[in-house]
Amino acid sequence: MYGLVNQAIRGLVESRFGEQPWQQIRVKAGLENDVFLSMESYDDAITYNLVGAASEILELAPEEVLHAFGQYWVLEVAKKNYAELMKAAGSTIPEFLANLDQLHSRVLAIFPELQPPSFRTVLIEPGKIRLYYYSEREGLEPFVLGLVAGLGVFLKLPVAVRLEASKGGGRSHAEFLVTYSEKAMDEASANEPRSTC
Ligand code: HEM
Repeated sequence: MYGLVNQAIRGLVESRFGEQPWQQIRVKAGLENDVFLSMESYDDAITYNLVGAASEILELAPEEVLHAFGQYWVLEVAKKNYAELMKAAGSTIPEFLANLDQLHSRVLAIFPELQPPSFRTVLIEPGKIRLYYYSEREGLEPFVLGLVAGLGVFLKLPVAVRLEASKGGGRSHAEFLVTYSEKAMDEASANEPRSTC
């Protein structure tokens, strides 16, 4: 994956846990230094090793690391550095999810060796979407869970996402159930009964 991704893992670890755990993770992952060129494509093994090392050093399950990384990617990396792309992808959960392939096609113009994921959405009923996730990579379902959760925070819209089937065992893709509301969180909480005291 592009150096940008490994750099973001470093950003997540340093901001939440500090410089020392990051150095321990880097050494455990077998990296001699922590220079990642954001525009250079690195072997996927480096990213997976960083997640594995982070899981051991931080005593978190790899799924928890990936989930946290998904949220961090949307709320810290994408929101701050790719605001225009994020804005163009939509303002509701179904619209944004349906535009993910288009978003990555635009990213491809910046990162020509990108091996992007692909998503397909099917509306089950208002407020419920089945999200199909296709990737050449393995084991990134918890990352998608974190990304979608981050998207809810980014759009200020309530969202819940559940993994229904992982890729593998003959299945070419993973499936998620996404439950959402088109009403903003502020509005939703404004309508909640207030406690009086
Ligand atoms: C402007 C915002 C975004 C940018 C710039 C971006 C860019 C990237 C980049 C550089 C990679 C690494 C792939 C590679 O190097 O070959 C990647 C992977 C990925 N992206 Fe995005 N992305 C963005 C938003 C999103 C969002 C909002 C989602 C989902 C909700 C998403 C889902 C994924 C997934 C699941 C992967 C892992 C690769 C795989 O599954 O094979 N991305 N993206």
